[in-house]
Amino acid sequence: MPPATVLVVDDDRANLESVARILQHEGWTPLPASDGTAALELLRRPEVAVLLTDLMMPGMDGQELLATARALRPDVEVVLMTAYGTVEAAVSAMKDGAYDFLTKPLKRHVLLKTVEKALERHALRAENQELKARLADLGAQRSLVGQSPAFRSFLDTLKQAAPSTATVLLLGESGTGKELAARALHELSGRAAGPFVAVNCGAFPETLLEAELFGVEKGAFTGATARRPGRFERASDGTLFLDEVGEMPVGAQVKLLRALQEGEIERLGGTQTVKVDVRLVAATSKDLGREVAEGRFREDLYYRLNVVEIRLPPLSWRREDIPLLADHFLRRFAVKNAKTVRGFSPEALAALEDYAWPGNVRELEHAVERAVVLARGEVLDVGDLPDTVRKGPRGAAGHVVIPIGTPLEEVERRVLHETLRHTGGDKSMAARLLGIATRTIYRKLERDGPRREDDASES
Ligand SMILES: Nc1ncnc2c1ncn2[C@@H]1O[C@H](COP(=O)(O)OP(=O)(O)OP(=O)(O)O)[C@@H](O)[C@H]1O
Ligand SMILES: [Mg+2]
Repeated sequence: MPPATVLVVDDDRANLESVARILQHEGWTPLPASDGTAALELLRRPEVAVLLTDLMMPGMDGQELLATARALRPDVEVVLMTAYGTVEAAVSAMKDGAYDFLTKPLKRHVLLKTVEKALERHALRAENQELKARLADLGAQRSLVGQSPAFRSFLDTLKQAAPSTATVLLLGESGTGKELAARALHELSGRAAGPFVAVNCGAFPETLLEAELFGVEKGAFTGATARRPGRFERASDGTLFLDEVGEMPVGAQVKLLRALQEGEIERLGGTQTVKVDVRLVAATSKDLGREVAEGRFREDLYYRLNVVEIRLPPLSWRREDIPLLADHFLRRFAVKNAKTVRGFSPEALAALEDYAWPGNVRELEHAVERAVVLARGEVLDVGDLPDTVRKGPRGAAGHVVIPIGTPLEEVERRVLHETLRHTGGDKSMAARLLGIATRTIYRKLERDGPRREDDASES
């Protein structure tokens, strides 16, 4: 966040200057204006948090300025100063929406206390508004889908980490949702109104990556005809997402470490440093600990990035979420492709639930997209799923995953068919494993119809 900005308005030059000096000394940024018209101009600046104005001024007086400010910038807190101790005027101004008033001559500590409280109130209100907007937004579309214990525990950590400025390291296999998580961290933080800037560290050769991250000064190298800010600068007051951080070349690692330690950067070919206020989120599907051990990743940088570590569970660890995610993608792609597809057949869903998903959520997303695009009926069946899903590696050999609430008849059917699959279609062996008579197997298979039997002996 930039230092809090206070717009100070007074026709009395001496007072204006003295107030500005006091505020500045406190670390705030005063914006002085000597009349109402100039003040209104400055009030348009988004960084103004508090308006501190004299009540009696020639031209536009404080009360008029207050009314206009309320209309123009309702988020700005207004504090009045009055030399006459005319409490009535001040009280009436407060009815019109001023936050507080001060009597002249000003007492330094009263001034500071009042401005501080007004700033706090402004920050709280801004944060509140942002959060409301964000929650509405998040619920709407870019939601993180999942209900399983593994996913919930991940979400809890994410929500806890979001409001802080601590650097977060997201770990997880490819396609588990690291980028989505990085965006959620940004959107649930106090920086949500600021930019979210993503850089894929594996996508640039070394010097280009440094130019991308830190920017270049005009003339830094041939072809650098103008100063270009880097992504660090562009992410100011927001979040910088360093994707595939494990791919970062060592030279860039040194510069990144420095930026994190000092809170400032140097553009390529530059001599000045530039302050940056950026929250960093990094992600990798590599084992960074091993990269450190093998000397490819700096240990000191690893510890700087790893302040909060959040692991994304692979999809195979949270099979309960497969139907939810599949449904979520089905609806999304049905709308996108203007197709009437209502859901999955039980067999298709079973196949989705059983598959190992080495490519995690992204693979599931693509499988469902393809099925929706190619679907001829309103219900997606096993035949609509990619071969890899139908015939690929099962989630856990020798196991059947059955969601809570599955009807018992269906449980029996799934166990029977999985056992048959396991025995390669050998019915007497399956019967022995299940502790039933072989003829019972035949009877049950008959009940399920001939097509099922084919399925079972297929793989
Ligand atoms: N929990 C989830 N709910 C809904 N969609 C998800 C979820 N997790 C991932 N996705 C979707 O899956 C796809 C892959 O996610 P994402 O790109 O975030 O993965 P990643 O971990 O960054 O992968 P990689 O390491 O390959 O870059 C995206 O389209 C994302 O929207
Ligand atoms: Mg990614």
